Amino acid sequence: MNDALIDVSYLAGPRFGETPALFEKIAQDIGEQGYSINPNALPPELAQSLYQQLQQMPQAEFDSAGIGRQVDHMLNSFVRTDEICWIDGSSETGARWLEWTSALRRFLNARLLLGLFSFESHYAHYAPGDFYKRHFDAFKGESNRVLSLVIYLNPGWLPDDSGELVIYRDELDMEGTKVTPSFGTLVAFLSEEFPHEVLPAARDRYSIAGWYRLNTSHGQKVDPPR
Ligand code: OGA
Ligand code: MN
Repeated sequence: MNDALIDVSYLAGPRFGETPALFEKIAQDIGEQGYSINPNALPPELAQSLYQQLQQMPQAEFDSAGIGRQVDHMLNSFVRTDEICWIDGSSETGARWLEWTSALRRFLNARLLLGLFSFESHYAHYAPGDFYKRHFDAFKGESNRVLSLVIYLNPGWLPDDSGELVIYRDELDMEGTKVTPSFGTLVAFLSEEFPHEVLPAARDRYSIAGWYRLNTSHGQKVDPPR
């Protein structure tokens, strides 16, 4: 059967009438090249509420980002220097964000049979000069993170502000593709396939990074959401 004949647009839900075209483009890009870059992608009202939530958040809500255990923290600060705050559904905005990312999850599952099961995400704040060195979000066979999602919440970002995300095609690619972290831009890529990095910015840089995961629960052991 031809996939293109199956209409799955209803999966996007009625609240985000403008998203099926975007979901379709993301699915097509992921299927063809494994990543998708979309300026002005996020529904404007959702982007606005996320931005407002971010602005109202006390700085104390952010924790310095770590990789693995606390004891690795000194080493980690060579890799990444940003601060993060996990998002849950306890606020109206958080709930709407999870609803939207869930609609995208169901759409991608229907289109690409990815078997995405859960989603975890956090706000990230990069102060001027902060960075996240070249890394993978998941290592083959070691993680159940399948698809990475990043959105940006920086109005009026200028070329001189730097702070681009650089996505590399593979381990050998040293040039990469640069993404400007402009308000409403959405990037998705297969977590195990694309090394990427965040270049230092000249101003505060805000993003949400999230990961769709497979379900690896078995027996009595329940897979935690993060
Ligand atoms: C990450 C990440 C990219 C960005 O948090 O793993 O790669 O542009 N973030 O914020
Ligand atoms: Mn990453």
